Amino acid sequence: MECGLDVKYFKERDEVWASVPPWKQGSLAEFVVLSGNEISHKPKSLSHVEAASLPYVANTAWSALVNTGGLNKDNCAKKRILILAASGGVGTFAIQMLKAWGAHVTVTCSQNAERLVRGLGADHVVDYTAGPVEPPLRALEKFDLILDNLGGATEHWALGLLKPWSGAKYVTLVTPFLQNTDLLGIADGMMQTAATMTTKAVKHLMKGVHYRWGFYAPSGPALDEVQEMVDAGQIRPVVEQVFSFSQVPKAFEKMEKGHARGKTVVQISNPDHGL
Ligand SMILES: NC(=O)c1ccc[n+]([C@@H]2O[C@H](COP(=O)([O-])OP(=O)(O)OC[C@H]3O[C@@H](n4cnc5c(N)ncnc54)[C@H](OP(=O)(O)O)[C@@H]3O)[C@@H](O)[C@H]2O)c1
Repeated sequence: MECGLDVKYFKERDEVWASVPPWKQGSLAEFVVLSGNEISHKPKSLSHVEAASLPYVANTAWSALVNTGGLNKDNCAKKRILILAASGGVGTFAIQMLKAWGAHVTVTCSQNAERLVRGLGADHVVDYTAGPVEPPLRALEKFDLILDNLGGATEHWALGLLKPWSGAKYVTLVTPFLQNTDLLGIADGMMQTAATMTTKAVKHLMKGVHYRWGFYAPSGPALDEVQEMVDAGQIRPVVEQVFSFSQVPKAFEKMEKGHARGKTVVQISNPDHGL
């Protein structure tokens, strides 16, 4: 709607997309103020509702896979990637980005999500509802990178699926950061988090694999690259359900039930003619 005087890359009335960082609260609002480097031009091929489903998971997956995992469009060809819990928001985006970059993608999900993830490009699917996934995953060739969207006990066995002493990385998005800061306050919580992370990273480094925590990070430049992939038809939004503003409580009830298949969108106003 408006641009600051120093903003050169955008002009008023440009159609933009962005994820609103948690430290700039403002989702479910009609207007938000963001920095120029947090926004990007919206893909022309998407409606606003479709576009709204992507930036948060795109910025999260980008931060985990590119910034933390070291992957990019030029080094992914033939890399073997495992995504644990791939049928939700982050996973459905990550599959498509990694396939666009030429990686071989194995995923875990429930049986009723297999069609969805295969349709997004997953090469190999392991159904966690059929029994423990560790044995079938162990039977496969080892991986160059694992993206863990599940957390919990997974890290006790999943690092053994990586190629040792090859630079292989395990990146988990499920970290104790928020729990620690809630319990101990920001300063002590951050110290505790840093200490835990360092201990785990060193322990696994001695076994020849890299252990990392991934965090959502807002980035307009990353969304610029995603916009190109979307407009080139390499990435599509996976919108499971759209709620109007008056249905926001229902939207949260749906999310609390889990079992996401892609993203839930709240439509604040109605600028689109349909999806
Ligand atoms: N660190 C950060 O900054 C950051 C940022 C964003 C997200 N996250 C975290 O990253 C994780 C993924 O986020 P998301 O947005 O993709 O979550 P989501 O949309 O809720 O998706 C989770 C998916 O996992 C599936 N699932 C549940 N249990 C599973 C299992 N045992 N094996 C395989 N799949 C399973 C669920 O479907 P079914 O239950 O039907 O199988 C669902 O499709 C969440 O834990 C989230 O809190 C962290």
